[in-house]
Amino acid sequence: MISIKIDHIEFLVKSKISILEACKSLGITIPRFCYHETLSVAGNCRMCLVEIEGLEKPVASCVTEVDSNMSILINSSFVKKARENVVETLLINHPLDCPICDQAGECDLQDQTKMFGSESSRFFFNKRGVEDKNCGPLIKTIMTRCIHCTRCVRFSSEVAGLDYLGTFNRGTSTEIGNYVSKMFKSEISGNVIDLCPVGALTSKPYAFKSRPWELKLNESIDLTDSTGSNIYVNFKESEIFRIIPKPCSSINDSIISDKARFSYDALKNNRIENLFKHDLKTLRYEIINWVNFFESTNDLLNNDKKINILVDSEIDLYTIEFFKKLKNRFLGRVSINTVSGNLIRSNFFKTNSVNKISDIEKSNNVCFLLSSNPKLESAILNAKLRFKYKNNIYNVYSLGQSFSYNIPSNFVNLNLNKIFNIFEGKNFFLSKLLINSCSPLILIGEHLNKRVGSVSSLMQFIRSKIVSSKIIEIKAFCNSAVQEYLNIKTLNSYTMQKNSIFIAINLDDVVVLRKMFHKKDKLLIWLNSHGSNMALEADVIIPTLTSFENEEIFFNLEERPQKTNRTFSSFFNAQSTKNIFRSIFDLNEKQLSNKVNSFNYLLEIINAGSKFNVLNNVLSLNLGVNNVVRISNHPIKSSIEDFYLSNKFTKNSLVMNQCSQLARKSSTNFPEIGNV
Ligand code: SF4
Ligand code: SF4
Ligand code: FES
Repeated sequence: MISIKIDHIEFLVKSKISILEACKSLGITIPRFCYHETLSVAGNCRMCLVEIEGLEKPVASCVTEVDSNMSILINSSFVKKARENVVETLLINHPLDCPICDQAGECDLQDQTKMFGSESSRFFFNKRGVEDKNCGPLIKTIMTRCIHCTRCVRFSSEVAGLDYLGTFNRGTSTEIGNYVSKMFKSEISGNVIDLCPVGALTSKPYAFKSRPWELKLNESIDLTDSTGSNIYVNFKESEIFRIIPKPCSSINDSIISDKARFSYDALKNNRIENLFKHDLKTLRYEIINWVNFFESTNDLLNNDKKINILVDSEIDLYTIEFFKKLKNRFLGRVSINTVSGNLIRSNFFKTNSVNKISDIEKSNNVCFLLSSNPKLESAILNAKLRFKYKNNIYNVYSLGQSFSYNIPSNFVNLNLNKIFNIFEGKNFFLSKLLINSCSPLILIGEHLNKRVGSVSSLMQFIRSKIVSSKIIEIKAFCNSAVQEYLNIKTLNSYTMQKNSIFIAINLDDVVVLRKMFHKKDKLLIWLNSHGSNMALEADVIIPTLTSFENEEIFFNLEERPQKTNRTFSSFFNAQSTKNIFRSIFDLNEKQLSNKVNSFNYLLEIINAGSKFNVLNNVLSLNLGVNNVVRISNHPIKSSIEDFYLSNKFTKNSLVMNQCSQLARKSSTNFPEIGNV
């Protein structure tokens, strides 16, 4: 620690940090445009000028290191004049756009002008015009507002790993732009909107929709992948206007993926608005009401027919716990199955065996990707890897699958058997590398569940060999692991025969399921928030709520429980899955002893999970992987192929569909996108 003076008051601060960072650590704000804590320092806007006693000229505080006994003046008249001049220079070519600018109200330039700007301008020349750039369907550009802070350029190359934006020309002709007019094809491109201190880069779907001060704010979590990023939902009445990141240092820092930010239009698109029943006489769907529905299901329940509940990922914890109690109450009559078949996981809630996202920081410079493409499966986790790569020499090995990646990586062309040999110490180069590295990071994708019998035994085996290894399993969705709690098995033909009533909850439109139910003598009740072709195979269609309309608990990939908050009530005739089931089975709160809102309820589940003993059984069998794990000969791959259309919700978003189309186009050639 060293001693410095700020405005003649003495402080102790860390050495080897900039003046701006020192002030920040003391809670003193220095105005800035180009400085951002997650990006490299550019020092080009000069807004952070401060005076150092003994020096003639002001210095940029973001690039000047503190020194022992330095006396810094941050509010002297000299500093104020310097800042006024900087603002005046920035405004020379800035348009008078505030009344029509989407950034107005949360614009750094507006704020600094009010604080430091002069009352009148001394420039009476024509302002410079800059052509807007085409960045695709998500980002709107008005480049005359750009102040050349280069935050977007640095974000693009340093965090997104894509040299998409750059600086052209010099001096008064400087422009920010893209080299080729095409979509900003990054999974986290939307974050430049938050980073841009002015209204040069704004959200295209939000353009001219609302003013920030008119919007209400609700905290929630993103369910488009298993990261569980924290978000703020900006809404007015019953419409979501935009979604922005909620800073959370242990999960998403202050960035979110484009799916999380822009897929909210799916909330109104293709929704199931009413209850429908298929009339066998007219072969048409008729609208029914909730009373009709509960009466007819009551009849079904009273005739002793076997009921199968079909679930997949994205079922909230309340509902899962409710199913468990139902299963116990209607023992032998109610069974639960899944369709995707990738939910087998046995270290559920073994919290000390699950590595956290923040453990990426603690891992050293070796990373193995096993059946995982983190760029598509968890864009936020991948951004953390990029940060790590940026600051260290980082050796990334992609085992068994090659893909276009934004971190320099080595593709190891081995089949699964040979990959497991690496962990058994039989591969000369890679086994040595793994064992010599004290805490390698191993990322396992959900697709591996389809290729090996037990991913958890593999994880346990690796950990037994390299004790300090950091292993993170990137699941497809939040709560994928939770379903293990119910011991859910994949739907097969035997289950199909055994049951005559099927209740499908929030399933995606899977072809295999459509084939199973097409022209079968089974009653299918389809509960879903969005319409699909599969719904047309159902006898009864029931509308359910989305996570924006309901309070739900989800566990993310590091098994952290988080809650979605209801932003507003649904304007459709929909109900939550939990309430529908409670009514179907006429079970009240007391019978189920289901204290869904209490902290005790969570503890109860977590304790139940800790008694779950599969891991230990596997471990006692053999530590040799070949004896424990069944391995499929099929090649391994990532579980997600199209980032934008990865789940039911995003598939119903028009914006995401547009992005998906353009991304596929731009990966094959360089088309002119036109005005998208
Ligand atoms: Fe006004 Fe800021 Fe928009 Fe410029 S960027 S027009 S200062 S709101
Ligand atoms: Fe900075 Fe925005 Fe211009 Fe990029 S577009 S350089 S972020 S002002
Ligand atoms: Fe220091 Fe821009 S913030 S020069």
